[in-house]
Amino acid sequence: MWRASVLTILPDVFPGPLGASLAGKALTSGAWALDVVDIRDFATDRHRSVDDTPAGGGPGMVMRPDVLGRAIDAAATDKRPRLLLSPRGAPLTQERVETLAHGPGLVLVCGRFEGIDERVIAARGLEEVSIGDYVLSGGEIAAMALIDACVRLLPGVMGAPASSAEESFAEGLLEYPHYTRPQLWEGRPIPEVLLSGDHAKIAAWRRSEAERLTRERRPDLWASRPRGA
Ligand SMILES: C[S@@+](CC[C@H](N)C(=O)[O-])C[C@H]1O[C@@H](n2cnc3c(N)ncnc32)[C@H](O)[C@@H]1O
Repeated sequence: MWRASVLTILPDVFPGPLGASLAGKALTSGAWALDVVDIRDFATDRHRSVDDTPAGGGPGMVMRPDVLGRAIDAAATDKRPRLLLSPRGAPLTQERVETLAHGPGLVLVCGRFEGIDERVIAARGLEEVSIGDYVLSGGEIAAMALIDACVRLLPGVMGAPASSAEESFAEGLLEYPHYTRPQLWEGRPIPEVLLSGDHAKIAAWRRSEAERLTRERRPDLWASRPRGA
């Protein structure tokens, strides 16, 4: 079973939104599993400290390698990828999410404060992953985003299996626009072609809209699309 182990100093925030909707139902039915590890359980002092002042000075606190190392050793006893949520990491992509969803699961380390001691990253082989070029106050929300993106791809979790093949980033394109009833809303009609019943025409319109949106909004994606796509 696909299993996510999350190491955090805020265990109570999980499962949070992961416990709702389709991901939550799949968690309850045992389609995937979530272990939440409280990093403080691996502290040895009576204050359960997990952080200390930065070597060399400067603001904030740094998570200690000894405490975190013990927590990782307890949680990561198998071959699952070990990821550290970090703004310095490789930006997460749908392609990477698909690879991770096809694997055995994840061990995720959530940083807090200024981040974690560099030595534990190397010593425990943590791969740094970012969910975007902005700074969150901790890795928990990033971990939830990553788990959510993976879980919805697991077999039997999402309603219609065809939908992930058509949505944004499939074939390097953003998704085409959606419409539903009412047919006329505030003077705005649904595009005629979608009401035509002509499936080939509808597919062609959706493709050209997906291409137009990608060119306009994400020239970077458009330029890096696989040739012939
Ligand atoms: C306040 S941030 C530390 C930022 C760090 N001092 C820096 O400038 O790169 C605390 C933690 O939030 C998480 N985090 C913040 N932004 C993130 C992002 N864009 N993607 C993934 N994790 C993030 C990381 O786990 C990080 O250790």
